[in-house]
Amino acid sequence: MSVDIDAPPPPPNRLPRHVAIVMDGNGRWAQQRSLPRTAGHREGAKAARRIVQSCDERGIEVLTLFAFSSENWHRPRPEVDILMNLFLTTLRSEIRRLDKTNVRLRFIGDPGAFSDTLRKYMIEAERRTVANDGLTLVIAANYGGRWDIAQAARRVSEAVLAGHLQPGDITVDRLHHYMCLADLPMPDLFIRTGGEQRISNFLLWQMAYTEFYFTDRLWPDYDADDLELACAAFASRQRRFGLTGEQVALSAHA
Ligand code: FPP
Repeated sequence: MSVDIDAPPPPPNRLPRHVAIVMDGNGRWAQQRSLPRTAGHREGAKAARRIVQSCDERGIEVLTLFAFSSENWHRPRPEVDILMNLFLTTLRSEIRRLDKTNVRLRFIGDPGAFSDTLRKYMIEAERRTVANDGLTLVIAANYGGRWDIAQAARRVSEAVLAGHLQPGDITVDRLHHYMCLADLPMPDLFIRTGGEQRISNFLLWQMAYTEFYFTDRLWPDYDADDLELACAAFASRQRRFGLTGEQVALSAHA
């Protein structure tokens, strides 16, 4: 199933259906405490757990967390190893609780570079939670927005080569079917913690009309109150999707 990417905006003051987060600031949180950066990542995993629960309680449908970008491989080897280890241990320790709370877990990104063990756990976690219809938790791991567009282009050209499509059939809607998350609502709200104001190759295609929210809070400190502030900011915005403010106001009253 695929969603209509030109679907009308949700009515004003609504909760975002899909929240996407860049969890930045783990390293600085640790450095401020004279701890190794990896201690920040461990605290970051606890913050992720809190925010999953808060999103679930608020009735948000999809939460996408940017856990590891395609570019993060260039970090010092010990930090990469600890992050991989953290994903595996977090997955092992959380999967039961996530399943019990009706969370559906999904991964996006290129799994090719992960260890066999980690890949096995990822597949198993997706399989185990596939029928859950509560919060969908998407973990972007070895993900990059440019990689996503490239993999969609590759798959659509394979369909052309196989004779299933003509080049002229490749429209925005058609290409969208090949992008990650094509079956989910597009992100309504993008949050980046840690004070930087950039997208860092996250969901480039999917965030064409997403509302952006930046906060100085470092990710390990991020909590339900911070999420509340971000949701309130979202609710106060008028989403126009290329229309005029008057058109949006009129359609809201129609
Ligand atoms: C960015 O902070 C954070 C990361 C690259 C890793 C994110 C991982 C976690 C939050 C922990 C595990 C999460 C899950 C879902 C299992 P940074 O290191 O760039 O911080 P800095 O900008 O302060 O250096």
